[in-house]
Amino acid sequence: MTAQIISGTEIAKQIREELKQEIAELKDKHNLIPGLATVLVGDAPASQVYVGSKVKTCQALGVYSERYDLPAETSEEELLALIDKLNKDPKIHGILVQLPLPKHLNETNILFAVDPKKDVDGFHPVNVGKLMIGEPDYLPCTPHGIQELLLRSGVKTEGAEVVVVGRSNIVGKPIANILLQKKAGANATVTVCHTGTRDIAFHTRRADILIVAAGKPKAVTADMVKEGAVVIDVGVNRIGTTNEGKAILCGDVDFDAVKEKAKAITPVPGGVGPMTIVMLMSNTVRAAKLAAGLT
Ligand SMILES: NC(=O)c1ccc[n+]([C@@H]2O[C@H](COP(=O)([O-])OP(=O)(O)OC[C@H]3O[C@@H](n4cnc5c(N)ncnc54)[C@H](OP(=O)(O)O)[C@@H]3O)[C@@H](O)[C@H]2O)c1
Repeated sequence: MTAQIISGTEIAKQIREELKQEIAELKDKHNLIPGLATVLVGDAPASQVYVGSKVKTCQALGVYSERYDLPAETSEEELLALIDKLNKDPKIHGILVQLPLPKHLNETNILFAVDPKKDVDGFHPVNVGKLMIGEPDYLPCTPHGIQELLLRSGVKTEGAEVVVVGRSNIVGKPIANILLQKKAGANATVTVCHTGTRDIAFHTRRADILIVAAGKPKAVTADMVKEGAVVIDVGVNRIGTTNEGKAILCGDVDFDAVKEKAKAITPVPGGVGPMTIVMLMSNTVRAAKLAAGLT
């Protein structure tokens, strides 16, 4: 069996078109323009690329954006003052603080300072708690993107055995929480594996849907996957550079071998990656509608 390739690039394109239309309607009918502020501290090249694509996507979709690029030595006090200003600014509906922050800044303090209503990353404890009890305002972007990939590729999650490898706060824990809710597009039986798991392959081999977010190149090999499983590879590992200086990326799954066994699989790049930014845009639109009482 050669797996169906679940193209995040294609699905993200569909969602972009839907959002573009919704944003145009919000402007025409309600004079409402969703606004996103991005905050980047320091000049880490990967973070600059991520922020750059977020701002470019805002422009392409008609989302108002403000970009704050601060020097690496910015103090916690200065950063908190900026967040406070953005929390109070009615043009800004979503605030994105690009992670990781430089070591001298306390990430928890910063993320907790963002108004939960503007927390379009879904990392504030209020939003984490709301997700946990099944009443979310915002789902974190990458896990939300994974759920959309499954839904739009016709993968049935109801009653499925889902195994998640990785328990980070930004991917593993939230996707596990999303898929175990008693809701359409979820209602799965979820197992979460991590470095403390005794026999990871025992669990992964049971999975109808295997979601891997370990940050370890090709950690999941074909012998760890059940014939006919759906495999979602979240990993983005830079394993070298081309002669032109471009990063060579690989996922956490041994794609070439696993695609011969799986029913469907996401590639890296072009799988989960493109979904993250569109779900950020979707959350920003939702934040604007919530602020305007339109939802
Ligand atoms: N495409 C996207 O938009 C996107 C977004 C976010 C992240 N990512 C990528 O996804 C990957 C994971 O990101 P993250 O932020 O969740 O990573 P993270 O914070 O480093 O967490 C990795 C998790 O995987 C577990 N783990 C590591 N190696 C393992 C192994 N061999 N077997 C079982 N579990 C293992 C760790 O277990 P312990 O808890 O026991 O340490 C941890 O829970 C990275 O490659 C990242 O670049 C992609």
